[in-house]
Amino acid sequence: MESIFSTMIVLLLLSFSCLISTEALTSNNGNITIKWDLMNWTPDGYVAVVTAYNYQKQRSVPGWKMSWRWTRKEVIWNMFGAKTTQQGDCSMFKGNIPHSCVRKPTVVDLLPGTPFNQQIANCCKSGVLKPGLESAFQLSVGNAGNSVKTARMPANFIFTAPKQQYICGPSKNVRPTRFITADKRRTTTALMTWNITCVFHKAT
Ligand SMILES: *[C@@H]1O[C@H](CO)[C@@H](O)[C@H](O)[C@H]1NC(C)=O
Ligand SMILES: *[C@@H]1O[C@H](CO)[C@@H](O)[C@H](O)[C@H]1NC(C)=O
Repeated sequence: MESIFSTMIVLLLLSFSCLISTEALTSNNGNITIKWDLMNWTPDGYVAVVTAYNYQKQRSVPGWKMSWRWTRKEVIWNMFGAKTTQQGDCSMFKGNIPHSCVRKPTVVDLLPGTPFNQQIANCCKSGVLKPGLESAFQLSVGNAGNSVKTARMPANFIFTAPKQQYICGPSKNVRPTRFITADKRRTTTALMTWNITCVFHKAT
């Protein structure tokens, strides 16, 4: 009798902890969704537009930073609307030198006064991501696959801001985004789209 009772308690506790961890990742306090839209293939990789959406109704994010881990030997040839904090060791490259050769790059936003030739739409807000708004940057990735079958999602996303800690879920290959042109007469589709959802964990 006693053992049945303790088994029941263990099961109850287990189901509670499952509920809590599921709740943490589908919080109704909103989330930060990071979306990678692959826009075109290049000889050695792809060009992607990365957009972070702040779906938190109350919480403004001042000074976001985003990082991830490449799963191969990818490099970032160039970036618009944001920059990596470190270039890393690009010594094996001759001629064109990548923007970053770091395996776990960290990306920070640019300032509003950034020269236009380094901007893209929705960029350059000095890292401030207000509720309901989005921030975007573009990067050209090399040493990467350049087809739907060979391009590999980056992994282990980390999204942070001063005094805010988030937990990011896995990268997911989702239905490619459809874009509508400004004159609304044509739609285009991303080659691939990857989503990552991060939820607020705690104030630090
Ligand atoms: C993130 O928030 C948006 C907007 O509230 C919602 O549509 C989406 O389902 C959420 N994503 C997850 C994984 O909970
Ligand atoms: C991926 O994220 C975008 C931006 O939040 C959203 O519009 C889209 O529905 C998401 N896709 C999936 C399958 O969750």
